[in-house]
Amino acid sequence: NISLYNKSFLSLLDFTANEIYYLLDLATKLKLKRKQGIPGNLLQGKNIALLFEKTSTRTRSAFEIGVIEEGGYPSFIDISSSQFGKKESVEDSAKVLAGYFHAIEFRGYAQKTVEDLAKYSGIPVYNGLTDEDHPTQILADLLTIQEKLPHKPLSEIKVAYIGDTRNNMANAWMYGCAKLGMHFVGFGPKELHPKDEFMNKALAAANKNGAKIEISSDPLCLKNADVIYTDVWVSMGEEHELQKRASLLKDYKITPELMNATQNPNTLFMHCLPAFHDDHTLAVKKASEEYGIDIKEVSDEVFRSKNSIVFEQAENRLHTIKALLVATLSPQQN
Ligand code: CP
Ligand code: NVA
Repeated sequence: NISLYNKSFLSLLDFTANEIYYLLDLATKLKLKRKQGIPGNLLQGKNIALLFEKTSTRTRSAFEIGVIEEGGYPSFIDISSSQFGKKESVEDSAKVLAGYFHAIEFRGYAQKTVEDLAKYSGIPVYNGLTDEDHPTQILADLLTIQEKLPHKPLSEIKVAYIGDTRNNMANAWMYGCAKLGMHFVGFGPKELHPKDEFMNKALAAANKNGAKIEISSDPLCLKNADVIYTDVWVSMGEEHELQKRASLLKDYKITPELMNATQNPNTLFMHCLPAFHDDHTLAVKKASEEYGIDIKEVSDEVFRSKNSIVFEQAENRLHTIKALLVATLSPQQN
């Protein structure tokens, strides 16, 4: 009997495989309920603070709509227009927010901030992305893989994560694979291989759960991958490293040739989004005009191919985040 009632969600490292499967199953149920147009009230009377120190489209929308569709009240707080961290310590803000809200979502820089919010508020706190981790994204991605490959258990899936294997998404994927006994291959330049601190945490969990975590700069490691996953080359907060990263990562752009390296015509292409794949964004134009560099991490052809499931992933952010809210806040669910 699994209950996540009153628990925080700071990293998948804090959860068992059964707890993760429980969240995925609940997300599937809530997704069906939504498709059937059945109104929800599982979060009635619950106020959720949504704190954002970094920008967001999907995570913010998924939390707002997820809360509202189950009858709760979300309150978006742009940290730059609040007292948080500048005129008030994280500890004091956490204690203040606990007087108004039943849970807090936080997106920002330091993993310590989300941990301190949980420690001092005493209410459930959700990690909506930090420099180290992005665990709600992995829930959505796992659900999407389950839906696309229903006959293959997640524990038999091989995920090849290509490009910046040192960022929050790479860590989050290592942690997720480690917990579910999956096969993770990070393929990127050695300058951007994972930090030892995060790699060691992933390896410790992997050893317990029969997972395989590999990091490589040899394309042979992509063979038989079920999923090719990539992310932007420059994460939020690293904008000053644009030129260096574009040069380190130029050979890791996802092209049809790279997809072929898996020797599996059904390999799924996944991306957490937002993505650079054509010239329709300011950042791509600016990098090209100012520095003469291409920062597109995936070709438009792959991004729009039939194997690409990026928009399914984006929709599943809603269902999985709603499941997380319901599991941790609804007494009826527990
Ligand atoms: N994938 C993701 O977290 O998107 P946002 O930055 O738009 O929230
Ligand atoms: N690695 C990216 C993920 C965005 C969802 C970033 O941190 O900017």
